[in-house]
Amino acid sequence: MPGVVIVGAQWGDEGKGKITDLLAKDAAAIVRFQGGNNAGHTIVRDGEEFKFHLIPSGILHSDKLCVIGNGVVVDPRVLLGEIDGLKRAGVSISNLRLSANAHLIMPYHVLLDQAGETKLGKNSIGTTRRGIGPAYADKALRLGIRVQDLLDEKILRTKIRAALEPKQQALRELSVQRRKRRKEAGEEKGAEPELVPDPRLDVHAMVEEHVNFGHRLEPHIADTAKLCWDALDSDRTDIFEGAQAALLDLDHGTYPFVTSSNPIAGAACVGAGVGPADIDEVWGIAKAYATRVGAGPFPTELHEEVGERIVERGHEFGTTTGRRRRAGWMDLVALRYAVRLNRMDSLAITKLDVLSGIGTLRVAVRYRSKEGAVLDSFPYHQSILHSATPEYEDLPGFDADLGGCRDEADLPQGARDYLGFVSEFVGVPVRLVGVGPDRDQTVWLDA
Ligand code: IMP
Repeated sequence: MPGVVIVGAQWGDEGKGKITDLLAKDAAAIVRFQGGNNAGHTIVRDGEEFKFHLIPSGILHSDKLCVIGNGVVVDPRVLLGEIDGLKRAGVSISNLRLSANAHLIMPYHVLLDQAGETKLGKNSIGTTRRGIGPAYADKALRLGIRVQDLLDEKILRTKIRAALEPKQQALRELSVQRRKRRKEAGEEKGAEPELVPDPRLDVHAMVEEHVNFGHRLEPHIADTAKLCWDALDSDRTDIFEGAQAALLDLDHGTYPFVTSSNPIAGAACVGAGVGPADIDEVWGIAKAYATRVGAGPFPTELHEEVGERIVERGHEFGTTTGRRRRAGWMDLVALRYAVRLNRMDSLAITKLDVLSGIGTLRVAVRYRSKEGAVLDSFPYHQSILHSATPEYEDLPGFDADLGGCRDEADLPQGARDYLGFVSEFVGVPVRLVGVGPDRDQTVWLDA
């Protein structure tokens, strides 16, 4: 099974890191292909917790290559922070490889993301404010700075100047607004705010800092597509690890409330540099319920107490921003859409333990439009989705604590029925179930 893609099947935070870590057992390389440090994975191993934003989950396996592919946008400061953290924890990073073609998130991208969200006010997307959208925009505009540019000071300076030039107006306005706010807050005295450039945008300092980043990252910079081919061509497995999820996909998600990359399986080819025929298997990861962080439509969102219980019991607070996630029932209309978009072969259902003792479990099986039409498939039209109401199937649920289950036979009947219903509805076997945060709190199903 040389090429295996692992993707999120909902709105992100499904626990992909843990499943990747498990499936990576026999892999030669674990490859991230899109997104940036908007993602966050927590892996618990032997009681020790590791949090990653950029580094692929496989870094804890010392015998595997850990690849940040060309499709990822990399904030070098964040990457170096993670490298330092891992070194401090005694984890070797000698297997880490960074694509020379990956684009960088520069300081101005972060400022522009923050400014864009502030400007949108109540219509904001709720981005992670990490500069993801502006970095991908520059890539498409061919104004991006790539990892390889860090290794040539002259090119770097020229490219930073070219990238900054069309942003001057927006960045100047930003600087004035910030100074106005500081003045109003009494933090800054003196004359009216003028057009003083933000020190973070000083080209000289930025070049110097990034050349230094380049020196530190140089041992990891590589032609990562070739590394992926080397493994595949010798019949060893590459795991392509997605970040975010299908419903946050730039093309197929709930636009504009999406991320700026394509987190679906097809994008693994572009973001890692392999062909569709290299992909042998696609795993979708879904939580036993649904969550969403940030704004945007969420048909099965729960506003009552049961939602609160799920958030508390599932510790539904973001790894990246700490924001409380919105929670709701499992949405099988959306999941079936994600299954088809990714052409999934297998599903992993995580956090099933969180639903124990909740009582009756509801799963959305269709939507109804404002006008009363029955919608069996995920609506492509934004206005319809925004006002669609879900119709549910009620399942009995279960009360037993699942934390100690290791075999299918250990799972209570209610849990098995729940999984069976999901699997049958979306037409894909559930092969792996998460029953707790630890690596061994998983149950393989005979699907
Ligand atoms: P951005 O990716 O920071 O531009 O944010 C765009 C949208 O995607 C926002 O709603 C974010 O909350 C959401 N998002 C981005 N990354 C993740 C993730 O890893 N998990 C869940 N939501 C995410």
